[in-house]
Amino acid sequence: MCGIVGYIGDKNVYPILLKGLQRLEYRGYDSAGIAIYNSSLNVYKRKGKVSELEAFVADKNIQGHLGIGHTRWATHGEPNDVNAHPHQSMHGNFVLVHNGIIENYARLKKDLTAKGFEFRSDTDTEVLANLVEYFYLMEEVEDAETAVRLALSKVVGAYGIVVICKAERDRMIAARMGSPLVIGIGQGEYFLASDASPIVEYTDSVIYLNDGDVAIVEKNSLTLKTLQNIPANFKITKVDLSIGDLDKGDFDHFMLKEIFEQPKTISDTYRGRIRPNQNDIVLGGLIDVFPKITAANRIIIIGCGTSWHAALVAEYLIEEYARVPVEVEYASEFRYRKPIIHEGDVVIAISQSGETADTLAALKMAKSKGALILGICNVVGSSIARETDAGVYTHAGTEIGVASTKAFTAQVTVLSLLAFKLAKERSEIDQEFYEMLIGEMLAIPEKLETILVGHPYIKTVAEKYKDAVNALYLGRGYLFPVALEGALKLKEISYIHAEGYAAGEMKHGPIALVDDNLPVVVVSAKDSYYEKVVSNIQEVKARKGNIIAVVTEGDNGLRKMADDLFEVPESHPAVAALLTVVPLQLFAYYIAVMRGCDVDQPRNLAKSVTVE
Ligand code: F6R
Repeated sequence: MCGIVGYIGDKNVYPILLKGLQRLEYRGYDSAGIAIYNSSLNVYKRKGKVSELEAFVADKNIQGHLGIGHTRWATHGEPNDVNAHPHQSMHGNFVLVHNGIIENYARLKKDLTAKGFEFRSDTDTEVLANLVEYFYLMEEVEDAETAVRLALSKVVGAYGIVVICKAERDRMIAARMGSPLVIGIGQGEYFLASDASPIVEYTDSVIYLNDGDVAIVEKNSLTLKTLQNIPANFKITKVDLSIGDLDKGDFDHFMLKEIFEQPKTISDTYRGRIRPNQNDIVLGGLIDVFPKITAANRIIIIGCGTSWHAALVAEYLIEEYARVPVEVEYASEFRYRKPIIHEGDVVIAISQSGETADTLAALKMAKSKGALILGICNVVGSSIARETDAGVYTHAGTEIGVASTKAFTAQVTVLSLLAFKLAKERSEIDQEFYEMLIGEMLAIPEKLETILVGHPYIKTVAEKYKDAVNALYLGRGYLFPVALEGALKLKEISYIHAEGYAAGEMKHGPIALVDDNLPVVVVSAKDSYYEKVVSNIQEVKARKGNIIAVVTEGDNGLRKMADDLFEVPESHPAVAALLTVVPLQLFAYYIAVMRGCDVDQPRNLAKSVTVE
């Protein structure tokens, strides 16, 4: 949530800030702003997307070689020009951009007000800017860096910040606690950003700041220390990101591009993890801890949103094949509900961004109780990836569309590999069955290609249902999480109210919604639940609901019953989630486009939820 970018060096700063903000816009798009230091410290900010800011500054003084920028997802204060970042302190000594939440801002604001400070905005960030200024103006504080450290020592909450001090025109000060910040190292220049995407075309050498780090960044020098003024440890790493990922190519939207990338991203996720003769799965990141996973009494999987849906698929897989008890928890509940965690438990955190605040906090809590903590993340070097004892990257490439698609299928892929490997290691399945499952996994990319080729038909069906007000998604077994995921995709990008339900639960309430206006999407496969799903369809048809069924190719029985049909190639039920979710992604996408919605940046959402 919120994207930060900064630059100091010889290049013209504005194009770097602008492009950086465009790349980070997925993190929030309520308002955007920049501050550029030339003969004076100029701040420009605007409600709306980065394009609004771009138009606004077209005739402004934007020359300079030092600057910061911000794209906002509002937490405190509505999205408007005044609440947009950067925020300037009352006497104009500091300009600051911030990602996170200052939880004790109300008390700090009261104290500062009593000391004569005045506030223009409703934000917590302006309080921080004034707090820094307050310390700066105290006689014994000699420089901006000390003022920043003193101010941060009073703050409760999460922050990634970059600060410019008017009197120190050759440096920026950055700090991190809970919200990500990356420093890009160039030749006689440094870049700062919330993630590596604004940096990657200038340098691949980066430092990921740790919580509690403060960086003093000058053109030719970088100093890293702790809030307590002690030199901080850091590691220079290479960025694992390609510029091609940051471009839509020939697609109209990132979401569509990412849906179409799935055959490749799933293959990438297998790479190096399935032995060439297909007789074993090797999860390199887990090798050292696999004996502990195999011996686990219980596995707890935590995540939010789509990642939580991937966790549910894993619960069904691990319990069915590896016979280990699994609990799936919303990270936001788990972190606060005083769960019972034993030392023999394994906790797996699933997160595309690796920055979701609730997931990060939940895994830290589990870690403090002695559980083995594993991560399944997409973003390399992200906070969750670094906080875990071991983990597996999904290698789906950068996901920019706010609605998660390829990250979900990559997560399910990794979790399936983990479940099958665990089942084998625990001797719950024999080698023949294991190799059959591996073969089924390897066949997925090609099968997905055939689903994707059918996209014009899915578009035609979407046209029929684009004006729906509500929709119900039903599934059983492995396809229940797919129903949840299909409903989430539709609601988040088209704003049609959609509910996902376990099909067997329909009679216990949702059936009251069924009438001739309600599209009911039923996800089916030729599995042990098939006949029961057929009965559920009959129940909907008896009440005149419209059935859109996802079915296995050649399923003539459901063809007769359903109003519309999305066929997917036959597969083993254990891998069917990877196929059946894709028509639902496309269905949601086309409906949203037809309704004129902003598919890649749906209202009120942000890609990386770094506040709780
Ligand atoms: C929905 C979506 C969100 C995320 C959720 C968790 O399409 O993208 O529900 O899945 O915010 O994000 P990560 O996986 O980054 O922890």
